[in-house]
Amino acid sequence: MSDIIFEAENIHKYFGGVKALQGATVLVEKGKLTSLIGPNGSGKSTFFNVITGFLKAEENSGKIIFKKHNIKNLPPEYIPWLGMVRTFQHTRNFPQMTVLENMLVSPKKQVGESLIWSFLAKPIWQREDAVNVKKALQILDFLEIAHVMDHLASELSGGQQKLLAIGRLLMTAPSLLLLDEPVAGVNPTLANKIFDQIINLKEKQGIDVLLIEHNMDVVMSFSDHIFVMAEGRVIAEGDPSSIQKDKKVLDAYLGESPDEA
Ligand SMILES: Nc1ncnc2c1ncn2[C@@H]1O[C@H](COP(=O)(O)OP(=O)(O)OP(=O)(O)O)[C@@H](O)[C@H]1O
Ligand SMILES: [Mg+2]
Repeated sequence: MSDIIFEAENIHKYFGGVKALQGATVLVEKGKLTSLIGPNGSGKSTFFNVITGFLKAEENSGKIIFKKHNIKNLPPEYIPWLGMVRTFQHTRNFPQMTVLENMLVSPKKQVGESLIWSFLAKPIWQREDAVNVKKALQILDFLEIAHVMDHLASELSGGQQKLLAIGRLLMTAPSLLLLDEPVAGVNPTLANKIFDQIINLKEKQGIDVLLIEHNMDVVMSFSDHIFVMAEGRVIAEGDPSSIQKDKKVLDAYLGESPDEA
């Protein structure tokens, strides 16, 4: 049996009458890039919100285990300290800080990312040592945003903001990266380069990745294992070639096939 770093079993989440998650089960194996795909509104971001503690799982949910710790309903500020960090579908950086300053405020220290925190954070990043600055510059360089390091985050393009969010996660030396559409709005050449670097991180530093992504080229080229979600449930899982052939997956994206209609 391979090494499972993360496991969420039978997760439910309801918003009033909307059953966003209806028993979703997802595993991440060590050393594999795992993707979570599915049509719009199928529950992918909600799944991330539940496993990172931003939303509470329903009582009838099963366990959520990361590195053998039960993290179900652990407050969101604790989870990054265990090595699991995430990006948000709608990027969250500190708009009134520069790109470099954003990099030097570790996401581990972001409690709610409120306005007050951006004032409190400033003295903290000012105390950071030269090693962190060097590391930040290296990361900005490979993400190709080093040239805007002294620009305010609010001045970046949408794609650059996504890159900054990934850069900030890499500063924390994580063991599991949860990426919610990390390259949406990034040009395809750079998106491929970023994924090359993500694969590098996985191979060389042992960082595992759980990826939500709509870009099927990226998903099929870079994933080792894919979970397909529809209506809050996992309807298929497997390697890219088996997922591409799976009729249930086609049906989920295209609606019912004509012979069943
Ligand atoms: N905070 C919320 N309050 C009410 N309903 C919500 C909330 N968050 C998500 N939903 C609903 O839950 C369902 C799943 O949404 P979710 O954002 O998880 O989908 P998704 O798979 O990430 O979609 P996309 O690919 O478009 O990002 C949708 O019907 C959505 O409207
Ligand atoms: Mg989403």
